[in-house]
Parts: sequence; C-alpha cells; structure tokens
Amino acid sequence: MTATPETKSAHTETPTSSSSIVNEILYSPVNLVLTVIIVLLVYKIFRSRFGKTSVEAPTPELPKIRKDMTVAELRQYDGTQPDGRVLVAVNGWIFDVTRGRRFYGPDGPYAAFGGKDASRGLATFSVTSTDKEYDDLSDLNSMEMESVKEWEAQFREKYDLVGRLLKPGEEPMNYSDEEPEETDNSTSNPDDKKEQ
Ligand code: HEM
Repeated sequence: MTATPETKSAHTETPTSSSSIVNEILYSPVNLVLTVIIVLLVYKIFRSRFGKTSVEAPTPELPKIRKDMTVAELRQYDGTQPDGRVLVAVNGWIFDVTRGRRFYGPDGPYAAFGGKDASRGLATFSVTSTDKEYDDLSDLNSMEMESVKEWEAQFREKYDLVGRLLKPGEEPMNYSDEEPEETDNSTSNPDDKKEQ
C-alpha cells in the first residue's frame, strides 16, 4: 500500500513510451476488455466493408439470353440454379439482373424479387412478390404506375433486357434472328411487340 506513490511515479515517468502504454493496457482488465471490443468492432467494420468483395468470387459473365417467359419459367431464375443467373420482371419486361446478384440473389436484401415480377412490390415500396400466375397491375393507381415505369427505365439502363413476361395464353416471340447487341432504351408497353 505504501508503495503506491512510487509505483505511480514509475508509471508516469515515461508517459509516451509505447511499452508503458502496452503495460497499462495489459495490466488493467477493463482496458484489456475495451481493447478487445474495439479490435473486434474494427475487424467487423472492415470485413463488412471490404472483406466480402475481396473474398467473394466475381460472378462469371453468363451468355446473354433473349427469350419471352411465363411467370412459371421466370421463377427458375432466382439465383439458386448452379449458374446463379437472376432475372426480374418489371412492367411486363424481364431483365437479367445477375450483375446485381448482391441485391436480388438468394442472400440479397431484395431476394423476394429474384425470379419474380417485382412491379407491384416496387410500386408499393414492399419487398414482397406475388405468387399470382400473372399480375396485370390493373388495380394500381396512376402514381404507382408512374413509379413502375420509372423503375422499368432504371432497369433498362442498368441491366440487359431478356424479353417479355408472357400473359397466360400469350406466345413467345422468336428472337433468333435478332442482332445480338440490339437493345431498346425506351420505356414501353410490352404489348407493343413491334418495338422489340
Ligand atoms: C429502409 C429502407 C431502404 C433502404 C435504407 C434502402 C437502401 C438501398 C440502397 C443503399 C440501395 C443502393 C445500393 C447500391 O447501389 O449499392 C438500394 C437499392 C435498391 N433498393 Fe432499396 N432501400 C430501402 C428500401 C427499399 C424498398 C422498400 C424497396 C422496394 C420495394 C427497395 C428496392 C431497391 C431496389 C430495387 C434497388 C436497386 C438495386 C439495383 O440497382 O438493381 N428498397 N436500396
């Protein structure tokens, strides 16, 4: 007990020395626990920011597909197949969103849209999709339909167009004689087949 003042002065003699800082940390349990917590938090932040991108294998470039699909066909492309392809339909058009796998793939925040018609969810700000055979969106109000169209335009800009989402009984178009890089950048009605 009487040695306390000396011990203190011994500690404060070289306040900037790195070995005394290390000693302070190691010999005080509170400091040690705090240091471990800080190191863990910093590690977590770095892992969530940079870790995934450096460890995650880049998605290999898949061959482009050009095809009209039914809701049932579209459902297969939710990213769980071996090739990991993800398709999403918006406003009657199907887009290849494989590039955005981190959003729409099985573990993504918008996985509910993968392999689905996302129109209603996007229009109503709800990350859910319907299991309806075909959603004609006829009950959406004009603001919601505007929002669907804006999302469609955004998808057209960012992703490759695959084809139309077929209504029950509708026949798929034949795209085999189409120019490989042909794209249509205008927001449009899928019923107007001549545009494609
Ligand atoms: C708290 C609410 C939300 C937050 C904080 C949020 C955050 C974000 C962020 C930061 C991005 C951009 C990610 C990037 O480009 O790296 C994004 C993209 C997106 N969000 Fe959200 N979001 C929210 C709600 C929603 C809702 C309700 C929907 C739809 C119903 C939605 C649909 C989307 C879509 C479709 C994308 C675009 C992905 C792409 O580029 O393909 N988000 N969100």
